[in-house]
Amino acid sequence: MTSMGTDFRFYTANENTSEFYREVIDGLSNTPRRIPPKYFYDETGAALFESICEQPEYYPTSTEYSILREHSKAIAGRAGTGQVLIEPGCGSCEKVTTLLDAMRPVAYVPVDISREQLQLAAAHIAENYDWLDVHAVCADITDSLNLPEIPDDGHRLVFYPGSSIGNFEPDDAVDFLRTLADIAGEGGRLLIGVDLQKDHDTLNAAYNDANGVTAEFNLNLLHRINRELDADFDTDAFDHHAFYNSLAGRIEMHLVSVRRQTVNIGGHLFEFSAGDSIHTESSYKYTRASFMTLAGKAGFDPLDSWSDTDDYFCMYLFRVAA
Ligand SMILES: C[S@@+](CC[C@H](N)C(=O)[O-])C[C@H]1O[C@@H](n2cnc3c(N)ncnc32)[C@H](O)[C@@H]1O
Repeated sequence: MTSMGTDFRFYTANENTSEFYREVIDGLSNTPRRIPPKYFYDETGAALFESICEQPEYYPTSTEYSILREHSKAIAGRAGTGQVLIEPGCGSCEKVTTLLDAMRPVAYVPVDISREQLQLAAAHIAENYDWLDVHAVCADITDSLNLPEIPDDGHRLVFYPGSSIGNFEPDDAVDFLRTLADIAGEGGRLLIGVDLQKDHDTLNAAYNDANGVTAEFNLNLLHRINRELDADFDTDAFDHHAFYNSLAGRIEMHLVSVRRQTVNIGGHLFEFSAGDSIHTESSYKYTRASFMTLAGKAGFDPLDSWSDTDDYFCMYLFRVAA
């Protein structure tokens, strides 16, 4: 733990390159080939994601912001004030700023795997909210999470925006929601942003922005593997491919080999034919009914929800059932 001042502490797990290597080798040895999306977010990937959020086609960020801004007082009224506010996968920590003044949490615990971005973002919050204790934790939220012990009155609020829950396969999403319920504790709350099913053109456009930023974000994964794992991906020989899979109810992102090639990753050789793909991310889109079922299975009772006029996106407030 590093104390960065009286009200800002930074906790970091050791960086584990061997786990990254193992997951890439395992993921490319399986059929279909996959690499977990958590590896998108090195420093470059985190900056590219911020840029995706500014693309006009990428409606989830602007829509979620508009809901949070419009309803911040109502959300705080229902979610409660003076709690410990924990945000897994917090990214730039910008969305939480729509809630801090209304909620006046006793402490804010942003958690993210992307160390450089977390350090800057959490420091920025500590500087701008001098009444708030900030305990930033750099960790993989899918591992068992060791959160700092912060005295509270027994109530915690977990804030999980960005529809990041859509990146989990539905069964894994239930397991992860159960983890969030454990973190919040009995009677604790979860405020979660969920991207809803909608017309396919809007969905396809959001993951294929005209400026090519999502393509760059996707391909940065191969650059990162080259940089960190002694690999020789020819990044010009893979194409970004993203599409809505209506049977599965999800956007799929792939990197598709444009020709026959062999890639060497730290001594492991992988053969690709033209058209072979690496599945890099899924983003499930839910109906209100399907998300309620998922949250119910994880032990959450619904308290309230807020949406935009197009019904593109929904913020749900849940309470951990007794
Ligand atoms: C799609 S971005 C969303 C960021 C922010 N929550 C928002 O709504 O704009 C996903 C964030 O989760 C982080 N992340 C992804 N997988 C993670 C994991 N397994 N453990 C911790 N953080 C993770 C990424 O580094 C990134 O900041």
